Amino acid sequence: MTDQIKKFIRVDHAGEYGAARIYAGQLAVLGRGPHAETLAHMKAQEQRHLDMFNRLITSRRVRPTVLLPFWNLAGFALGAATAALGPKAAMACTVAVEETIDAHYAAQEAALDESEAPLRATIAEFRAEELEHRDIGLANGAEQAPGYKLLTAIIKTGCRAAIRISEQI
Ligand SMILES: [Fe+2]
Ligand SMILES: [Fe+2]
Repeated sequence: MTDQIKKFIRVDHAGEYGAARIYAGQLAVLGRGPHAETLAHMKAQEQRHLDMFNRLITSRRVRPTVLLPFWNLAGFALGAATAALGPKAAMACTVAVEETIDAHYAAQEAALDESEAPLRATIAEFRAEELEHRDIGLANGAEQAPGYKLLTAIIKTGCRAAIRISEQI
């Protein structure tokens, strides 16, 4: 297995871990509100993505990123903080995160050839669900969040940095 594949699995594992924590943070704040079911649905899908990458980390002997404890806190904090700004800000966070992951997964899909067809299919399947999450965010008023453009720009920059760092260490 090439270093590139190890990098892919390491960063995807980190990303799905962070995503599950973001939705956990949002649910901690909005878990009794009208969006609880929607957030729980997305969290359950992230958990399924994470379970798969947990299996791949083990079966393909990839070292997870050393930053997992940090993503644990940072993911939850991002989810809780945006939710504290209101449900629309939480949805704006979802749009920003899921758009970034979509681009990240699309690049991985394009880089994988037939020798990694099962991994490529997994990524394609998860990417479709990330786009579903983005659409849920848009359908729930993300763009009406105060400071939508600035908020999503900051979160996207943070996510891209998290991706780069988790690929490396
Ligand atoms: Fe995911
Ligand atoms: Fe997602």
